Amino acid sequence: MKIMIIGSGGREHTIAWKLSKSPRVEEIYCAPGNGGIGEIARCVPIGVMEFDKQVAFAKENGIDLTIVAMDDPLVGGAVDAFEAAGLKAFGPRANAAVLEGSKAFSKDLMKKYGIPTAGYENFTDVEAARAYAKSCKLPVVFKADGLALGKGVLICHTREEAQKAVETIMADRQFGEAGNRMVAEEFMTGREVSVLAFVDGRTVKVMSSAQDHKRAKDNDQGLNTGGMGTFSPSPFYTKEIHEICHRTIYQPTVDAMRAEGRPFQGVLFFGLMLTQEGPKVLEYNARFGDPEAQVVLPRMKNDLVDVCEACMEGTLDQVDLTFEENAAVCVVLASDGYPVHYEKGFVIHGLDTVKAHEDQGYYAFHAGTKKTEEGLVTNGGRVLGVTAKGATLKEARANAYRATEWISFENKYMRHDIGKAIDEA
Ligand code: AMP
Ligand code: GLY
Repeated sequence: MKIMIIGSGGREHTIAWKLSKSPRVEEIYCAPGNGGIGEIARCVPIGVMEFDKQVAFAKENGIDLTIVAMDDPLVGGAVDAFEAAGLKAFGPRANAAVLEGSKAFSKDLMKKYGIPTAGYENFTDVEAARAYAKSCKLPVVFKADGLALGKGVLICHTREEAQKAVETIMADRQFGEAGNRMVAEEFMTGREVSVLAFVDGRTVKVMSSAQDHKRAKDNDQGLNTGGMGTFSPSPFYTKEIHEICHRTIYQPTVDAMRAEGRPFQGVLFFGLMLTQEGPKVLEYNARFGDPEAQVVLPRMKNDLVDVCEACMEGTLDQVDLTFEENAAVCVVLASDGYPVHYEKGFVIHGLDTVKAHEDQGYYAFHAGTKKTEEGLVTNGGRVLGVTAKGATLKEARANAYRATEWISFENKYMRHDIGKAIDEA
């Protein structure tokens, strides 16, 4: 089979790597891809939102299946565009990807179907939001309704912060059109878990759990980022919690979407908070997480193509989804200054050492890299997701941090406490 991936980050590199292990896959294409992806796939210079060009390329090159891995094209209707042209694409259609594309939609859905989540109010009118910020209970969480690269969430502990947040999102439109609507949410406390699931419209099968580290600096300080590191599985996500989540969150969400005439087929990502009152939904994403994919897919035993097909054909109930009984940790190597200002274009050294250890479970998944005449250079805020497996989480963490030392580039930055929570388990 010939498979094309839409996207260009560490998640897409991980998907490409996983596909490269499938005996069913002859050739992998990626639009637009990156330096690392180019080593195992043919990178195609087509943008993630250029659906017409993607479809034309798929037709001309006999692509059998396209995996749409990123939020923007999913929400924008990439899968619909492929299907309209009679082509196969993996991922939810736009009417289901709205679960990620609109936080107001997802909150209303949860309310209607009794799925546990934080109490909330939606706002379209800035004056009403200003009035709310003056008197609401603190802390409060304000979220831009639409896609904002994971940055449209503002947690406000003081009245001033709350009032400023409304201006940032709704008046100054710092997250652009994502701020046309805003959700105000009750602040929850507890441990966060990311649970990714395959869904075929009816059946939901979860992958091994993971935990992300969203803040830029150690001890969860600094700005929110796309994710600075992950580990899998989460020791806090017990079998008992899983049963509760399946009964109160996963299956009800999938059933609700079907009942709404928006059957969800693809990867559904449940961002959960394990609160005192039980697990609650923080957010839904309509795709693999990044960098969750980097610790989950290397541990998945199934052929990814088989599972994607089962999701599209509605036969997921017949799939026995299995994961290795080990652990993985991913430490993101970023450019110093991310997520604000950072320089690019520095040569990356040491990738060969990681490659030489791949059969021992070490990987460098590329996020922002580019191939140049001088070699691979940094080309983004997040540069690499250095991932390692281990028999236990502690071993995987030690291995991942050892591998970060093999790699060097100017302005290399990372958190040193990825997986620290493991010690509390
Ligand atoms: P989201 O993109 O909605 O997952 O929000 C990003 C991050 O903000 C989450 O991973 C949480 O750490 C935090 N967050 C979001 N909503 C809440 C909430 N209601 N209470 C506490 N923290 C939250
Ligand atoms: N790591 C969180 C996300 O992919 O949205």
